[in-house]
Amino acid sequence: MKVAVVLGTRPEIIKMSPVIRALEGRGVDHFVLHTGQHYSHNMDRVFFEVLKLNPPKYNLNVGSGTHGEETGKMLIGIEKVLAEARPDYVLVEGDTNTVLAGALAAVKMHISVGHVEAGLRSGDMSMPEEINRIVADHVSQLLFAPTEASMQNLLREGVDPSIVLVTGNTIVDAVLQNLSLVEGRDIRSELHLDKYFLATVHRQENVDSPERLERILRGLELVSEELGREVVYPVHPRARKRICESGILPGASIRMIDPVDYLTFLLLEREADLILTDSGGVQEEACILGVPCVTLRDNTERPETIEAGANMLAGTNPMRVLACASEMLRRKGGWANPFGDGRSALRILDALERKRE
Ligand code: UD1
Ligand code: UDP
Repeated sequence: MKVAVVLGTRPEIIKMSPVIRALEGRGVDHFVLHTGQHYSHNMDRVFFEVLKLNPPKYNLNVGSGTHGEETGKMLIGIEKVLAEARPDYVLVEGDTNTVLAGALAAVKMHISVGHVEAGLRSGDMSMPEEINRIVADHVSQLLFAPTEASMQNLLREGVDPSIVLVTGNTIVDAVLQNLSLVEGRDIRSELHLDKYFLATVHRQENVDSPERLERILRGLELVSEELGREVVYPVHPRARKRICESGILPGASIRMIDPVDYLTFLLLEREADLILTDSGGVQEEACILGVPCVTLRDNTERPETIEAGANMLAGTNPMRVLACASEMLRRKGGWANPFGDGRSALRILDALERKRE
């Protein structure tokens, strides 16, 4: 069996790392194809370094562009690599343009596609991620749903139940595998932090809208002032660009730093009193780590976090963000983790091996 792992962005590197480690551990013939969708050192290579992953065998270096440009360049490059390497499976993870291109290129070449983190739905077709995940799910031959709810989303859309497997989310594997590497580090003294909240904001619908971006930054300031904590915000390059263009100057209680490596970010999450985010992966990690979360969006494809009591949807209205932050601060964790037991990657490999028998 030969497996191609196609990835291209920060969350895919993190969520595929347990799968890559499992492929290596079992001695399965595999290679990593990086599209180059993310390329800045702190959005890309730093993750290979701290997660101790070998550099990708192929890197298409497509870089940034419009959705069509990015996806088109990836399709051309992925097809060439797959034609040469002829894997039995292509694994893609999540909902980025890389996933769309990887799944489409492979299925047209009659190579089986396994979609890791299948079946998530926000119900919001204005999000590029919703389009990508729906297309990827419907062209895949194996669907690895993280939860029962994501499996039900697939079945409701008429997917053949025999190709769906509930595996848990590989983010649990990643959190558990990597937390053990950070014991002994004291992030508060490293970053001279007292009590703090952690924020991330990067989603297209939030940062590309000057109105929403301004409301979010004002909301973070309000939360910081009213609840008496500094807000640490590692700024995604897309958001950095939009904040600079907008001329908005966040107040001094918002500490804007560059994106950090995964181990540092895990520590920042674990030690935070509260997390405010529009990230998918960060909503999951907050829930897994028992840290209350406020989501700066109008919807989420991770309803399990809300049902667990770990997360509230605040949207972008500053007063609503403050109300949700105050409410979540009263919750002290203790909820069950709905995303699995940290053995998702092994289940995914078991399924690939079974299909080959
Ligand atoms: C992409 C995904 C999004 C995911 C996010 C993870 C799509 C449609 N979106 O969004 O689902 O949540 O990655 O972080 O696939 N940039 C850099 N350096 C980089 C990467 C990006 O400076 O290494 C800047 C560029 O100005 C670029 C912008 O960020 O134009 C957006 O990058 P892009 O990959 O298109 O989308 P993301 O917002 O990162
Ligand atoms: N992350 C990180 N450093 C940072 C910010 C985030 O390592 O400075 C990690 C975080 O732990 C999570 C992933 O990046 O695993 C989430 O990526 P992102 O928010 O970019 O994308 P999304 O999950 O929304 O697709």
